[in-house]
Amino acid sequence: MSDFEPTIVAFFCNWCTYTAADLAGTSRLAYPPNIRIVRVMCTGMVDPKYVIKALLDGADGVLVSGCNPGDCHYINGNYKARRRIKLLKEIIEQFGFEPQRLRLTWIGASDGIRFAEIMREMTEQIKHLEPSAARLKMVI
Ligand code: FES
Repeated sequence: MSDFEPTIVAFFCNWCTYTAADLAGTSRLAYPPNIRIVRVMCTGMVDPKYVIKALLDGADGVLVSGCNPGDCHYINGNYKARRRIKLLKEIIEQFGFEPQRLRLTWIGASDGIRFAEIMREMTEQIKHLEPSAARLKMVI
């Protein structure tokens, strides 16, 4: 069994997923420590450059998570994020990254349990992919 511990950069919407992360913490729910959280006001403000830069700088995965459809505090930011992530999956492939390294989820503010589950799922998914090519180049 590999001892690879991935680094996952996570862009979390302040109003929903970040609050769910806080709830998971205060509820003492266990989840892997592989996530590096970047709090944003809305998933709609996650510029594609942020995702590409995170991967090129050695992140093994990128997770973008925000409010459930219909709950975005800026009306349609999460729908914009959904369109961008779909395109970004194709773009990161051109850079040599597997599209599974990028994931978009919706986690409501009161859903600490789902938050912990998704963090476990994402970490396992990335572990199966092995370290990213960019990370390996940095080590060499
Ligand atoms: S405010 Fe949460 S995704 Fe837009």
